[in-house]
Amino acid sequence: MMGGAMTTQTLDTIAEAVDQAVARLDFDRLHREYWEQNEFLVIPQFLDRAMVEEWLVPQAQGVKGDLNRNYIPGHKKGGSVSYYTVMEKAPRFLDLYRSQVFIEFLSRLSHAKLRLCPDNDPHSCALYYYTEPGDHIGFHYDTSYYKGSRYTILMGLVDQSTHCKLVCELFKDDPVRPSKRLELITQPGDMVIFNGDKLWHAVTPLGPNEERIALTMEYVTNPDMGTFKRLYSNLKDSFAYFGLRAVFKRALSLPRR
Ligand SMILES: [Fe+2]
Repeated sequence: MMGGAMTTQTLDTIAEAVDQAVARLDFDRLHREYWEQNEFLVIPQFLDRAMVEEWLVPQAQGVKGDLNRNYIPGHKKGGSVSYYTVMEKAPRFLDLYRSQVFIEFLSRLSHAKLRLCPDNDPHSCALYYYTEPGDHIGFHYDTSYYKGSRYTILMGLVDQSTHCKLVCELFKDDPVRPSKRLELITQPGDMVIFNGDKLWHAVTPLGPNEERIALTMEYVTNPDMGTFKRLYSNLKDSFAYFGLRAVFKRALSLPRR
């Protein structure tokens, strides 16, 4: 199956692997789990680890020179590579992000018509790097500033760490169900899918000589955003993720969709 595809140097390779990955999912079981967990789902080895390490990890390692390091005392420390850099220098991730088969799967799963984020959103398809001791992010929601809902899909790329874990607290705001805490290791190819307004989550601090890299993809139901929310979102992205120049240069140069 994937073995043949892995040796063919075409950009269709990831797209084909995604088609196959979606086709082999047990949709009914995953759909049940997603809703039982308040719109949260883990799919171990969505993409085969060997494929991820051969095809995607080198692209993630290759853009480390474009890393924007950020530090918000008490909340966040780490590095990010924005969608703009991914489009320019690590385009294989787009074969997953823009896959129609994948988007249809996510839409069926979430009962929502999901769409790509506007091109001027640096989170659309971005890379997060935990490379220095103590890199982490505190508990937060992936709040939607769009007029509709926002969904986050994470996929592990590098996980050479025993300390750096994705911690999720399910049902945090549910008045009936007790909350449930999960600590996840995201190995290369493992995928996590959730509704950004519903999952309270964090990443615990990286230890010395460790490294963790994750792909993050964002989809929305309505790509419109009010002017003030756009400004707030851009400021937040500038300071917390990608840097002022990257965010505003792009925000000002692209027409809004
Ligand atoms: Fe998040």
